[in-house]
Amino acid sequence: MKKLIVANWKMNPDAPGRAVLLAEKIERGLVKVKNTEVVIAPPFPFLFLVEKVLKRARLGAQNMFWEDIGPYTGEVSWHQLKHLKVKYVIVGHSERRALGEADELINRKLKAALKSGLRPIFCVGEKEGESREEILERQIKEGFKDVPHNQVKNIIIAYEPVWAIGTGKNCSVNETRESVLFIRKVISKLYNDKLADGISVLYGGSVNSSNSNSYIKTGASDGLLVGGASLSSEDFLKIVRSSGQI
Ligand code: PGA
Repeated sequence: MKKLIVANWKMNPDAPGRAVLLAEKIERGLVKVKNTEVVIAPPFPFLFLVEKVLKRARLGAQNMFWEDIGPYTGEVSWHQLKHLKVKYVIVGHSERRALGEADELINRKLKAALKSGLRPIFCVGEKEGESREEILERQIKEGFKDVPHNQVKNIIIAYEPVWAIGTGKNCSVNETRESVLFIRKVISKLYNDKLADGISVLYGGSVNSSNSNSYIKTGASDGLLVGGASLSSEDFLKIVRSSGQI
């Protein structure tokens, strides 16, 4: 399976010129990269410009609304994303959950993304002090409600423990492996073993160029969701190369 490395730029950079420059630098570094799918998820206002410079990397969005069209001030539809050639969309990121997105709403977004043909990157993860298994099981059960069997293979799950995001405290490889296995167990209970084995599960949380290869080479995860370190083309390219697929 191709490894998937996703750059989540969050609300960065501050200006379109800097976004284009960063995307160009990343693109140039991908010339010899094989067997790794790289996705760049810039803020909405930069999607159009960033798409113009991407050749190898795919375009991702950081969020979307579940309705097709209508009076929803401030929301962005999947139609609009598809017109901008977006292929992936992050759904249920913990930073959005922290702003009030609940499981039910995330479930609507996940189903809308699947219906539209965008590939959702569905984020799950526990906060410090919470029971990891309890949280993962709930978020997956609620998030996948009414998702039919034939759509499961199109979903990518990102295990992102909230305590590891942007904190410099990354989850150990062993804990990551355990969490990924647990996620597969939940999918297997909800669906079947084949879908559980086939689904891509990424790790995210303070991934940098020194720790990235431990997750990939050991097979603990199928790829990475990278925040802070994706804002430096050098660091991000080191992470892509460390996936060992060059
Ligand atoms: P981080 O963010 O790499 O800065 O910890 C990861 C994420 O939020 O997806």
